[in-house]
Amino acid sequence: MRHPLVAGNWKMHGDRESVAGLIAGLLEIGCEAEVAVFPPYVYIPLVAASIGNSDVDFGISIGAQNVSEYDSGAYTGEVSCQMLRDFGCQYTIVGHSERRSIYGETNEQVAHKFAAVQSVGITPILCVGETLEQRDQGKTLVVVAAQIEAVIERVGLDEVCEAVIAYEPVWAIGTGKTASADQAQAVHLAIRQQLGELGEKTRILYGGSVKAANAAELFMQPDIDGALVGGASLDANEFSKICKLA
Ligand code: PGA
Repeated sequence: MRHPLVAGNWKMHGDRESVAGLIAGLLEIGCEAEVAVFPPYVYIPLVAASIGNSDVDFGISIGAQNVSEYDSGAYTGEVSCQMLRDFGCQYTIVGHSERRSIYGETNEQVAHKFAAVQSVGITPILCVGETLEQRDQGKTLVVVAAQIEAVIERVGLDEVCEAVIAYEPVWAIGTGKTASADQAQAVHLAIRQQLGELGEKTRILYGGSVKAANAAELFMQPDIDGALVGGASLDANEFSKICKLA
């Protein structure tokens, strides 16, 4: 039985005041699913302290949106996995499509980050997904399989199956266009088949314009184990509804 996970990727949004308001809303959620939030780095201590000081009785975890592949050294502007662990992060997103497209992260770099994250005991959330052009060319499954294979080559199948995978079609992120439940399920199933028997326990999340209005149908699919939510995670009320549906 895979425990559903709903992850909120805040991206580069918010300020001290809005973050405080969002946390207050999050602490009220109360749901069966595990909830995880991914604030910008500088707000991680604030969120961690608020959760630590609360008496929430549901699982709420903290993660980072990105991390350096290096342990330490002269890498101006970077944050290491060890630092994230120091601040209580249980998860780290690696290979988000915005990192791949805006910052040029390659499959190999993403695999390196994945290995670094796992080596300190943090669970990576590996994002994969195709562009619209790749989908139109019928390359969706090939692209997604190659993104996952690059990580398997680096760390091995067992380690990948211990992580969380997020299927996020690039054309559905922040666009308001969600993959249909059938389209998403087809890719989730292909990912699970790629992982084989070990992948039965791996949580595979869907991401891309998830809202309360479309979450239920997505969560009904047998291979969708939760969601990675961007825009809708900035509204505590909307995010709470999604968490309760998972
Ligand atoms: P979105 O973002 O929900 O705003 O489409 C999802 C993501 O980028 O993880």
